[in-house]
Amino acid sequence: MVKSVLISGIQPTGRLHIGNYLGALRNFVKLQNSDKYQCYFFVADYHSLTSLTIPFDLKQKQKEVIDTIRAYLAAGLDPKKSTLFLQSAVSAHTELAWILMSTITPVGELRRMTQFKEKSGFARRSVNLRKNMTKYPVIDYAALEATNVGLLTYPVLMAADILLYDTKFVPVGHDQLQHLELTRELARRFNKRFGKIFIEPKPLLTETPRLMSLNDPARKMSKSHPAGCLFLDDKPADIRKKIQRAVTDSKNKVQYDKKEANPAVSNLMRIYKELTNKSIREIEQEFSGKGYAEFKKALADVVVDALKVFREKKRTNESLMKVLKRGNVKAVSVATKKLTAVKKRIGLI
Ligand code: AMP
Ligand code: TRP
Repeated sequence: MVKSVLISGIQPTGRLHIGNYLGALRNFVKLQNSDKYQCYFFVADYHSLTSLTIPFDLKQKQKEVIDTIRAYLAAGLDPKKSTLFLQSAVSAHTELAWILMSTITPVGELRRMTQFKEKSGFARRSVNLRKNMTKYPVIDYAALEATNVGLLTYPVLMAADILLYDTKFVPVGHDQLQHLELTRELARRFNKRFGKIFIEPKPLLTETPRLMSLNDPARKMSKSHPAGCLFLDDKPADIRKKIQRAVTDSKNKVQYDKKEANPAVSNLMRIYKELTNKSIREIEQEFSGKGYAEFKKALADVVVDALKVFREKKRTNESLMKVLKRGNVKAVSVATKKLTAVKKRIGLI
């Protein structure tokens, strides 16, 4: 039986955090080891160009690419089982993106993407409307005008990444669901207009699709707010310090209630649950009658241990590049075949 294709990518921007791990990377490894799928995992280096730092730092950019593949291998992705590759090495990705953009992608749909709005000139401003503080969207036209087009077209490149491989499943975190819905829509639209050629992919989420920041339980843990992140390669002392300082709630009870009274502790409990395989009930029992300090100490021990593999730098940069080069060859061959079929479909010879 032919196994279904599964693909995902992570952007090499900044350092990976435990949200990336529990929301995506750890699941990549589980899915790979289930032996049920043909797996492709890539480093989304073209996507990461949309958030280059100013001033530009060449060495830093190269390090981020290398560190991402290093994290893939440290987490347990195995080049013998999965195709590991670099997005920019497979030119079919940007070529298909251009085709999708030019034929079936309205500007309006891309402008409505949450990520575009958040990162461009669409701000949300709080105002006092009839005594209620209300958030309403405003457009900062100067910022919008200055925003790179790549931020707008970002989801189309992501659709191309996925559709080129006849992908059925895409393991991602919650923040990528909207992009995946667009991918499905583009596949449907293209199939309808030019004849069936793409498969509509489905997302695969983990139990922690949206881990929250350590210092603000209302905000997603995100590389763009490093203060609330536990990074995979953080030193044990830093992990302990960050967990000790993590925001907690006023109840001083280790109880799960993510919406009401205990959103901050519930977030920490989810990390503990994922890394120990204990149920929330078991965790509540374990810490019943104990305060946050004791829970945080136990959590720090668990996190320090779980992230040990990411602190050991076993492989040289050269050996990591070799792994990618081998994967690139396979990805180029699969993606080019699909691109050729798509070109024919739209009358290009
Ligand atoms: P990125 O670093 O944006 O390329 O994200 C890599 C993967 O991690 C994507 O599948 C994201 O959806 C996932 N991810 C990012 N932040 C979080 C988070 N706070 N909780 C769970 N998953 C996340
Ligand atoms: N946009 C994704 C992120 O920021 C990364 C990504 C790019 C991706 N292309 C993809 C994920 C294709 C899954 C499939 O996390």
